[in-house]
Amino acid sequence: MLRTFFILLAFVAILVVVMLGVRGQKSPAPPFEIFPDMDRQPKVKAQDPSTFYADGRAARPPVPGTVPLGYDQPQERPIKGVVTESTSPYDRVNFGTGTDYFNTGRIGAQWGTGIPFEVTMETMRRGQERYTINCAICHGATGAGDGMAKQFGLNTVQSLHQERLRTMSDGEIFNTITNGKNTMFGLGDRVQVPDRWAIIAYLRALQKSQGGATASELPPEERAKLLSTP
Ligand code: HEC
Repeated sequence: MLRTFFILLAFVAILVVVMLGVRGQKSPAPPFEIFPDMDRQPKVKAQDPSTFYADGRAARPPVPGTVPLGYDQPQERPIKGVVTESTSPYDRVNFGTGTDYFNTGRIGAQWGTGIPFEVTMETMRRGQERYTINCAICHGATGAGDGMAKQFGLNTVQSLHQERLRTMSDGEIFNTITNGKNTMFGLGDRVQVPDRWAIIAYLRALQKSQGGATASELPPEERAKLLSTP
């Protein structure tokens, strides 16, 4: 009986010494895995790279033609504010599937410029509304780059009143809205094509309002007012 006890005691003592002894030692050998299928599971996580797909991404892009939640499939339905009684191609829900200037901002291999439909007061109002909803959070209500997200640390937000952006073609800005640029995410999945143009039309007005216009662009009577001010 006592003998068994001593054998056990010796065994426990050796076990304790061995366990404490190897603590903190580095080993080049791979760690012992009790459940290898839990350590390495046959699944991919969002944003993981993958050698399986040709584009190297594990996450798959949405199927072409995917429509954001809450929107219907493209169909004949007027977009409020942009078109009224019209049978034009702009007259339907459109997130941009075409390859023309209207849908991409490109003309051939180049950026085009100009709003590809008539800009009315209604377009501008729609643009202002869409700008306030989608852009002001970062770029600020006047486009000065001082929106709420900037104040909360998104430091790369830019002012939209830089000379570079004043002279940038509408098509390139359209592309920035659609696909994003560097640290700005694309809004192509939530801002419809005519709305992107409406935003650009409004953005141009913003730029003019913030020092981007010269006196010669004013109507004569406004210019006269300006000159008569002491
Ligand atoms: C989440 C914040 C955020 C939102 C929302 C956002 N932007 Fe931006 N935008 C940025 C940041 C950040 C940059 C600077 C990108 C960079 O160069 O890193 C930028 C850059 C730009 C540029 C300059 C691109 C260039 O070529 O340098 C334009 C134009 C622009 N935004 C327009 C818009 C418009 C129009 C909207 C609304 C439809 C919008 N942005 C919405 C964050 C935002």
